[in-house]
Amino acid sequence: MENIIETRGLTKRFGELTAVDHLDLTVAQGEIFGLVGPDGAGKTTTLRMLCGLMDPSEGSARVAGYDVAREPRAVKDQMGYMAQRFGLYQDLTVEENMVFYADLFNITGQTRVDLTAQLLRMTRMEPFRARPAGQLSGGMKQKLALMCTLLHRPRILFLDEPTNGVDPVSRRDFWTILYQLLKDGITIFMTTAYLDEAERCNRVGLLHKGKLIRCSTPEVMKTETGSANLEGAFIKTIHAVEGVVTA
Ligand SMILES: Nc1ncnc2c1ncn2[C@@H]1O[C@H](COP(=O)(O)OP(=O)(O)OP(=O)(O)O)[C@@H](O)[C@H]1O
Ligand SMILES: [Mg+2]
Repeated sequence: MENIIETRGLTKRFGELTAVDHLDLTVAQGEIFGLVGPDGAGKTTTLRMLCGLMDPSEGSARVAGYDVAREPRAVKDQMGYMAQRFGLYQDLTVEENMVFYADLFNITGQTRVDLTAQLLRMTRMEPFRARPAGQLSGGMKQKLALMCTLLHRPRILFLDEPTNGVDPVSRRDFWTILYQLLKDGITIFMTTAYLDEAERCNRVGLLHKGKLIRCSTPEVMKTETGSANLEGAFIKTIHAVEGVVTA
């Protein structure tokens, strides 16, 4: 399988702080990859570099065959990025937000009408098309943000904690949509704070203080650490790195 994302020694420094420290990772086309790690581990910084929104201090990343630092424009055409705090316009309705983002991507005419209808149907948001974004529930806001990200039909989706603060039922809806996208051949690279979500990924990377300290399938991660669940595997791995003795 072709690697659609590939990083070599990808590093980001902010002054004295190394937020992302020599990251080597690959993601195959059609895979769903989950990046997890404590607050401040460097997840968002990694995503921003992969999206060509931030230059690496050192190392490189290729996304869909393009170098993110040298050809950011080409990368942006291939991918959709849903930021941790995605910019919805609270006073605009669901539909108006979609039109705004469609304009941004130069999607007009019948294509826009068809795509908007298709996305509203897929996310079951049709009944709410005329509701201002500011009056949506948290889960619906996330679905709207996802729709706006999908408007230009990206091959790769970068989602930064897309279900943060969303109730379990809405999270399940959100995952149904993600599975549908995977079936259509889209590659998904996401960060999440929820380990049940990490468990659903094909492979998971554990980031700690900017370093990728473990990267494999959830199954292998649990077996290697002798843990019943991913939470146990993560805690053991982080403790091992920090030299903490666990009972
Ligand atoms: N623009 C910036 N300037 C200086 N430091 C930054 C900047 N952006 C991030 N950092 C620092 O880099 C580190 C990694 O931040 P990042 O946002 O990537 O973490 P994260 O894993 O996404 O955390 P969270 O789970 O809280 O979203 C943090 O210590 C953060 O304070
Ligand atoms: Mg973050």
